Amino acid sequence: MHTSAKLPLAARTDGLVGSVIDSSTSLLHKQTHDIVRFAMGSPAPEAIPTGVLSEIGSVALGPDAPDAFDYGATEGDPPLRAALLNALTGTSDETTADRLVITAGGMQGLDLVCKLFVDPGDLVVVESPTYTNGSATALSYGAELLEVPVDQDGMVVEQLAELVEQSGRIPKAIYTIPTFQNPSGATLSITRRHELLRLIRQWGSVLIDDDPYGMLRFEGAELPTLRELGGGDPLVFSVRTFSKILAPGLRVGWVDAAPELHQLLINAKQAMDTCTNLPGQRLVTGFLEGGHLAKHLATQREEYRRRKIAMQKSLTEHLGDIATWTDPEGGFFLWVTLHNGVSTQELFDVALAEGVAFIPGPAFSPAGHFHDALRLCFASTAPERTEEGIARLRRAIDRLSMRSADSSE
Ligand SMILES: Cc1ncc(COP(=O)(O)O)c(C=O)c1O
Repeated sequence: MHTSAKLPLAARTDGLVGSVIDSSTSLLHKQTHDIVRFAMGSPAPEAIPTGVLSEIGSVALGPDAPDAFDYGATEGDPPLRAALLNALTGTSDETTADRLVITAGGMQGLDLVCKLFVDPGDLVVVESPTYTNGSATALSYGAELLEVPVDQDGMVVEQLAELVEQSGRIPKAIYTIPTFQNPSGATLSITRRHELLRLIRQWGSVLIDDDPYGMLRFEGAELPTLRELGGGDPLVFSVRTFSKILAPGLRVGWVDAAPELHQLLINAKQAMDTCTNLPGQRLVTGFLEGGHLAKHLATQREEYRRRKIAMQKSLTEHLGDIATWTDPEGGFFLWVTLHNGVSTQELFDVALAEGVAFIPGPAFSPAGHFHDALRLCFASTAPERTEEGIARLRRAIDRLSMRSADSSE
């Protein structure tokens, strides 16, 4: 007979809240019917340069390179570090070797910065809505979160000081996704970027600058990154990844942080995963050394612009009378707000049965706001499929509205 003993779990497990976004991957894998997938923030499958990567792999991971499957240097494989520093030269993310640590994607960058700076009970500011996994990482270190609204110009920095004052505490860290924010698509204006930097300096707070989509601008004028505007300020901790610009399955990213943190980051990473997977790093190295990144990004930007416009057109056609949505100048996401009282949380199952997947708004707010909103990824789906998916979404909304009307009669 099975007897269940109470396990002596650590108190921090209370903060392990999981990710609705990541869980949607497993959920969708289990479905056997046709589903248009707007849920995950992945590049289009056809946008992954599999041909080039396999060619690179046939040499870099081939029989003449057995060390590709060995342990690697914790701070990153030297050829990747060199190729990345070179690729970033002249960009707003240009950096130096003493600031760079290669990570297992952006997620590990977020984990590292929280591990270094967040103690249980610390106040961490997050955008509202924000990227679920980012807020979940802060929670996993015991943070108490303060949500600050986002509008079309990103975090409403004008309200930040006020909300912080009301809380009666100084934030230990402020987490922002400044460019083509996940999930809203909003970009933090230049004025707000400067003001944010002023505030973190006034408070001595760490600014977590998580900018995975910045290189995917397809409209509008470039803005300097917080990393560049920060001018090497040790309070600015920048998290970057190859997941959106190349392939998420590689699990390769980097952090750009003050040199005085370098050894601590290495120590923290050694207690986590020793090194970032070397085969993935070697593939990225080959991609950068082969000079493929610029052309790849140019193609992707154009395609994602086309896909955004196609999704907006389908939304106008099918949801124009009941919803509004954002108009991002890059990145992957549209943030849709329904104005007919439908709960997007309840809509999820109905939509899944109808054959379309999205992420409900409350997943992007630790306090569970945004019941009327949902996130759609336009990047991973071709326009014809998008049209079908949005038509299905409308059918699901109508079915749910009818059901609610019936039950209230
Ligand atoms: C804002 C943001 N930060 C970090 C990540 C995580 O990136 P990675 O998949 O490289 O861990 C994502 C991925 O969706 C993201 O949207």
